[in-house]
Amino acid sequence: MGGRGRPVTSLFGRLADGTEIHSWSLENGGTRMKVLSYGGIVQSLEVPDRHGRYADVSLGFDRIEEYVASSPYFGALIGRYGNRIGNGRFTLDGETYQLSVDDGENSLHGGADGFDRRVWDVEPFTEGSDVGLRLSYTSADGEMGYPGTLEMKVTYTLTERGDWRIDYEATTDRATVVNLTSHVYWNLAGAGSGTIEDHELEIAASRYTPTDPGLIPTGELAEVAGTAFDFRRAKPIGRDLRTGHPDLLAAKGYDHNWVLDKGVTAEPEHVATLRDPASGRTLEIATNEPGLQFYSGNFLDGTLVGPGGHTYRQGDALCLETQHFPDSPNHPSFPSTVLRPGQTYRTTTIHSFNS
Ligand code: GLA
Repeated sequence: MGGRGRPVTSLFGRLADGTEIHSWSLENGGTRMKVLSYGGIVQSLEVPDRHGRYADVSLGFDRIEEYVASSPYFGALIGRYGNRIGNGRFTLDGETYQLSVDDGENSLHGGADGFDRRVWDVEPFTEGSDVGLRLSYTSADGEMGYPGTLEMKVTYTLTERGDWRIDYEATTDRATVVNLTSHVYWNLAGAGSGTIEDHELEIAASRYTPTDPGLIPTGELAEVAGTAFDFRRAKPIGRDLRTGHPDLLAAKGYDHNWVLDKGVTAEPEHVATLRDPASGRTLEIATNEPGLQFYSGNFLDGTLVGPGGHTYRQGDALCLETQHFPDSPNHPSFPSTVLRPGQTYRTTTIHSFNS
């Protein structure tokens, strides 16, 4: 399939203060995506089914106003810290930092105005057989309570075979913590087409991090064997969703971090496969991160409306967020999220599509 060319931009809308938000269209290897300069948001991502029919497999909105007013992080870049930090507080080198608290007592996804709500600089590129976008944003020292000026570069690449690769890079001028991820809501049957409970999911993890009622990890690494959390062999997401496991009840479904068996790796390695048996569309994820947050769209409540007028209800999409573990700054036994001056934060996640 053709369509490879220089990314094309158009005006998507304006923020209340007049700032122009642009949409960038990219296509390569049979995958098409639209990315916004607001939040680095993947506004749409289209891939073919086994008969070559395209569908947008990521939830989004038509208008910038909807992203600003009510987006549950649809398609967005997440930072400085993917998932929660307990009580929005952590201590580093003897100093305690109070973060923006936006989820009960906790800080979620970088605080009230995280990277999902920032305007990024976007530079298109074509390089060999790749096409892509280089997104950059500088987060000021103290933004949302985090120490250090954080210089970020995130590269979205569509490869010749239609893979979407994300390379995250960050440096700081003061010791800080960083945990970047992407919050695409997947529905491989098409956004707005209904539940993802029939999608089959495989996660290469023997353990997960159980949480307290505020969804903060207790620190325990629990075995998945014999529980609803066992996705080591692909199974339909709905199969064990109503089994009454106390952790599922507390989170209204799956909203947990899986401890990937491979741990932190130098290169991205396979960690999960998601498949919609009806369309044949398959998503494979590889990362060098040690964790994967699988969220089964529990908070979607039928009040949000996507393109085409489809409403998004509970379980109409799922997120697979590659990351370090939630609340790591308060759990010295978890892989470290500390970044110091002179170091470069680098992680990569690759999404491969097949049908
Ligand atoms: C993550 C969190 C969830 C929820 C969603 C967005 O997956 O773990 O609890 O906040 O983001 O609604």
